[in-house]
Amino acid sequence: MTRFPTKHFNRTYHATAAALLAVLTGACGGSEPGLVRGELLFDTCSPCHGDDGAGKQSLGAPAIAGGSGWYLSAQLLKFRGGVRGYHHTDDEGLRMRPMSRALFDATGDIESVVEYVVSLPIPDPPSTAEGGDVEAGEAEYLALCANCHGRDGRGDETLQAPSMLHLNDWYIASSLRKYRDAVRGARGDGFEANMRAAMTGVTDERIDNVTAYIMTMQRLPRKAAAPPPPPLPPIDIDPAILPEEVTVAMVEEGQQIFNTGTGICFTCHVREGVGGALAPPLIDDEWLNIDGEYESIVQIIMDGVQEPMEYPGMMQERAGMPLTDEQVRAVAAYVFTLSR
Ligand code: HEC
Ligand code: HEC
Ligand code: HEC
Repeated sequence: MTRFPTKHFNRTYHATAAALLAVLTGACGGSEPGLVRGELLFDTCSPCHGDDGAGKQSLGAPAIAGGSGWYLSAQLLKFRGGVRGYHHTDDEGLRMRPMSRALFDATGDIESVVEYVVSLPIPDPPSTAEGGDVEAGEAEYLALCANCHGRDGRGDETLQAPSMLHLNDWYIASSLRKYRDAVRGARGDGFEANMRAAMTGVTDERIDNVTAYIMTMQRLPRKAAAPPPPPLPPIDIDPAILPEEVTVAMVEEGQQIFNTGTGICFTCHVREGVGGALAPPLIDDEWLNIDGEYESIVQIIMDGVQEPMEYPGMMQERAGMPLTDEQVRAVAAYVFTLSR
């Protein structure tokens, strides 16, 4: 007999729907967007994410308390827009997606619920996984992840790379497998593609190692943020070696584009182009795909590298960023000077 479970489900469903409606009418009838309304809305999140927003493993719902406001809002919009939770094997994403759709019809709902979530204390989830080589994971993290997520794991808004200090290990590992397998991040903007590029060919064992390392970072005192990177050196170049249409001002602009969130080149090629695990050095006058002349550098930045010769991942057209032709020519001018 399948009746009982169906009825039971219906009853629970109607009760939940009624509660939701009450919350929404209560929330919309009078109260302005903001913390109060956010707290009411959060009643619909807590069955999965927990009263404290610290997540529930049995439902695959991660900690959201401790996340940054910009990141939480962006993810809710991604779920709603079908950029996340789109893949038929993504059980957790598919579970979350209707929530984002049902809830946020009224203006200010996303802002309100996020404001409330951000006001919750940062959880410090326990390690649930056994194994994982922390030392190997640290090397992996510094080589592959730190340029975007920071050496301290706090993330970087200009790169849209979230903090990981509040996340559960089972969720980190599952997300990394999803990016690797294109179950997450295959739709959307250039930032997601760069996250996926970082995961190309990374084995489950390496995922377990890096996750184990991230869990040790979470236990570091929260206040000790990594120091900001040293300022970039002034451009010191003989204008005589520059191609005809290139100026020193272009090289200076290119230095900024390369080493910041504008062009995000440093996330793979590392600051000042010294090279790293994801992309080759650009300082040594040895080229894999081009002859190193100015126009060839411009062209490869325009086109990206879909199938790298030696390095994992790939490089998107214009690095996946909305760079104008002038900005591409400026960053190419900077790259041109690096090996000269
Ligand atoms: C039915 C269970 C369920 C409910 C209710 C629910 N969520 Fe989720 N949520 C999930 C699951 C499962 C995931 C993980 C998806 C994945 O693994 O990609 C998730 C992921 C998220 C994420 C992404 C977190 C990250 O680090 O990327 C945010 C933000 C989020 N939920 C916010 C909310 C908010 C706000 C509400 C209430 C309005 C809510 N959720 C209600 C199950 C739920
Ligand atoms: C090129 C920059 C870049 C690199 C390198 C990178 N990430 Fe990311 N990462 C991102 C961005 C951007 C996102 C958000 C993408 C999205 O919205 O789905 C992200 C998302 C994540 C998430 C999901 C967080 C959540 O709350 O759902 C995890 C976990 C993560 N990265 C871990 C790593 C690890 C571990 C590495 C190294 C193996 C790494 N990342 C390398 C940029 C990067
Ligand atoms: C997501 C990682 C990533 C980002 C971001 C990225 N690159 Fe690359 N880049 C690569 C990879 C991978 C290759 C090809 C390496 C190979 O063929 O093995 C490459 C190749 C290049 C080359 C040619 C090097 C050669 O030896 O053939 C240049 C020049 C270059 N990138 C410049 C840039 C600039 C400028 C930016 C920023 C606008 C940028 N890259 C952003 C990953 C990246």
